[in-house]
Amino acid sequence: MAITISVIKADIGSIGGHICPSERLLDAVRAHVAGKGAKLLIDHRISYTGDDVAILMTHRRGTGDAEVHRLAWDAFLAGTAVAKQQGLYGAGQDLLKDAFSGNVRGMGPAVAEMEFDERPNEPFLFFAADKTDPGAFNLPLYLAFADPMNTPGLMLAPAMAKGFRFAVMDVNHTQGDRLIELDAPEGLYEIAALLRDTERYVVESIRSRAAGEIAAVASTSRLHNIAGKYTGKDDPVLLVRVQSSFPATGEVLAPYALGAYVAGGMRGSHNMPLMPVAQDSGISYFDGPPVVSCAAFAMHEGRLTEPVDAFAHPFWNRVRDQVAAKAIEMRRQGFFGAAMLPMSELEYTGIMEKLKMLDGRFRVRVEKAGKVAETV
Ligand code: 13P
Ligand code: 13P
Ligand code: MG
Ligand code: MG
Repeated sequence: MAITISVIKADIGSIGGHICPSERLLDAVRAHVAGKGAKLLIDHRISYTGDDVAILMTHRRGTGDAEVHRLAWDAFLAGTAVAKQQGLYGAGQDLLKDAFSGNVRGMGPAVAEMEFDERPNEPFLFFAADKTDPGAFNLPLYLAFADPMNTPGLMLAPAMAKGFRFAVMDVNHTQGDRLIELDAPEGLYEIAALLRDTERYVVESIRSRAAGEIAAVASTSRLHNIAGKYTGKDDPVLLVRVQSSFPATGEVLAPYALGAYVAGGMRGSHNMPLMPVAQDSGISYFDGPPVVSCAAFAMHEGRLTEPVDAFAHPFWNRVRDQVAAKAIEMRRQGFFGAAMLPMSELEYTGIMEKLKMLDGRFRVRVEKAGKVAETV
């Protein structure tokens, strides 16, 4: 019988601004899921990345199950109550609706779910990123699933020879899910043309073309499209099945050595390099840099092993140093040029009001017969 992995993640309050949740908040979430989820779930793990708490669950109820979603929503409400008692910053930040209506999608939390028939061995990776948005996964997923420079398995492994099908979502379309499916390798240029625009087009899922099997699912919500105003970045989650007919774990992890610049950091309004970090770490420099954690699991009949913290390995210390250097270099130019996101992506209304006010003070200069005059 098919197994479903669901990860639901939310920022419900943090210590010292947007750094990380408190122990008591985490205890409240853990207690709720362990108690109320005992019958519903096969297994679960609670972790955090930056100020976001993730509930990873396995069960047999399929994707979008109302009871599983309610469990996560109520666990976040329990955590929010503690956040309020402790005076944490942004208590309940990502719970954007007052009443639960059957599915947390579109209510603030990030969701990624996949249902599949378990393989005799079932290794998978759970990524969580903070201070960035779902577009941060575009390049790592493209490299892992479509580029033999990164993934030799595309050349070497017969089970991967047919390539992968990318489902890409237009996250600017708020009236419903607007999706396109594109096949790699034939559609590489089309895929690249969309994925370069990380604020509009994001990878929703990837399937193996040989088996038709689900390989990866990312969260695709945009908080500012839900709330109509800035309420924090859409810090995303991602599930990736690995090995056999999917890329190997190392092929999926390798792109994070790049420390690519992504949207996020301070006030969700900058370009900063993405730093791979251990699970359960907070953020620091310039409300960032944007961070990504990865827990590797094996699973049998929905039961999870302990997580292996993929970016805790010493290899990533060097990468973190390089990312820190890139972050400092970019910050030297402050608000200028590429350091800050374009106008359409700025997460605050303050600058729009300033520009509107200044607009009225502009005058058009007209030149007449060598003389300079001004008109209103
Ligand atoms: P699998 O083909 O079993 O997924 O292993 C690939 C591999 O050799 C990892 O580097
Ligand atoms: P979060 O979305 O992680 O809460 O960050 C908000 C922010 O603006 C940090 O500067
Ligand atoms: Mg926050
Ligand atoms: Mg966050």
